[in-house]
Amino acid sequence: MATKEGVLAALKASDDYVSGEWISETLGVSRMAVNKAIRALQAGGYEIEAVNRLGYRLLSGPDLLTKEEIAAYLKEERMERVLCLSTTPSTNLKLSELAYEGASDGQVVIADEQTKGRGRRGRGFVSPKGKGIYLSYLMRRKETPEAVSEITAWTAAAMIRAIESCLSARVSVKWVNDLIMNRKKIAGILTELSVESESRQIQSLIIGIGINVNEEREEFPEELQTMAGSILSETGQQVRRAELAAQMIRALDKMNRDFPLRKEEYLRLYRERSLILGESISLSGAEMTGEPVKALAINEDFSLKIQYENSGRTEDIRTGEVSVRGLYGYI
Ligand code: BTN
Repeated sequence: MATKEGVLAALKASDDYVSGEWISETLGVSRMAVNKAIRALQAGGYEIEAVNRLGYRLLSGPDLLTKEEIAAYLKEERMERVLCLSTTPSTNLKLSELAYEGASDGQVVIADEQTKGRGRRGRGFVSPKGKGIYLSYLMRRKETPEAVSEITAWTAAAMIRAIESCLSARVSVKWVNDLIMNRKKIAGILTELSVESESRQIQSLIIGIGINVNEEREEFPEELQTMAGSILSETGQQVRRAELAAQMIRALDKMNRDFPLRKEEYLRLYRERSLILGESISLSGAEMTGEPVKALAINEDFSLKIQYENSGRTEDIRTGEVSVRGLYGYI
């Protein structure tokens, strides 16, 4: 671990003063190196009090999404597979390059800003600097694409848990991949697969998650203002992005171990938090027929059971998008 990271972790681990001598011994570095790290942290916006004979105490820190910050919440060996970037076109794109070069299972890419964030159906994902968490996670799987078709819904359930572990508020899900607070979309998930055409075997499975954390409502582009929200704008609560990013990684690691056998807890939570059940919805994509439709249930495989209101006919849909009247401004 770099000295700066180590010093920050030592300060974070204690509410009280930590002596420079103790830090230098624990990290196995000189007192001068500790002093230098403290000055660098202060220059980076950390408020650190220094008192003679007592040592250093961390008073506050900026809401940074850096490796040092995230390292305070995760084990050192886990951090070896976490790459933090201040800006990148898209974390999914960066991770697919790393996957091609041989990155291992559980590799994570996080960015403080994306300049070409990707959303579903070829849309973009607005990813301003310092406001959200843009995180991609690599799962190395040898199955066929069909075998992992549920992974986006599993991820939604895992992210509900991760977000709720950092604040007191309830997160809901709009089938299949939008996370909702206060009827606004605060997060989206985009799973991208690369598949070898002959064997149909997955080469890489990349799960990308974008969470709006700190935006005020008026900071979203005008065309998104009726639908988009952030954790801050919808709950008034300030979440430290590094802590939430660490919880996301923990939840994704657990999901990676649980998939596909321990489905029950993901399915239960997903069903419990599904916003659209019982609602009249509108379908878009290939499923669109123009007929009024009702969302009936989430099936065992996370597909959506719908009922055509005119004919009473039911159908299970696996792809596409639904809109619900009144939910983030849908008309
Ligand atoms: C959607 O709601 O349409 C899905 C949005 C997914 C955005 C995330 S941000 C991290 C990762 N990198 C990307 O370019 N997209 C995903």
